[in-house]
Amino acid sequence: MRMTSDEIIDLLTEAYIDELETVMNYRTNAIVLDGIHAEEVKESLEEDIPEELDHARILGERLKQLDESPPGSESFEANQHSLQPPEDTTDVQSVIDGVLEAEEAAIETYRSLVEAADDANDPVTEDVAVTILADEEAHRTEFRGFQKEFPMD
Ligand SMILES: [Fe+2]
Ligand SMILES: [Fe+2]
Repeated sequence: MRMTSDEIIDLLTEAYIDELETVMNYRTNAIVLDGIHAEEVKESLEEDIPEELDHARILGERLKQLDESPPGSESFEANQHSLQPPEDTTDVQSVIDGVLEAEEAAIETYRSLVEAADDANDPVTEDVAVTILADEEAHRTEFRGFQKEFPMD
């Protein structure tokens, strides 16, 4: 019997943690931003929060199916430095940039997972990765739109 590759377990675990960190930072930023320019961004973050939480659920359930456990908080290491709530709560631009960075990182992780699953002949994990990847690309598109409205400098 083929063993699931360690790479798949590592990527599923990393992605699970990243999704929960994303939930925390989207939740926080959807609360703290102020000003007329913030409303649309806050609304979009609100819509993404349940999607990111559902990604964590799907990844955790896949780990369980592979006879592994999703991690608890003691495995948690924060990475999303650019998504910390801005000191200036009207600095919507910094949150848009942070979201784009987080979505790019997620896209990279899910692309790696697609590849690892393909190499390991694990079509179910591959399907999970492709499904979530499509959501992250849609999130990126939405925030690229916001970025056009808020040009740098
Ligand atoms: Fe996600
Ligand atoms: Fe996302």
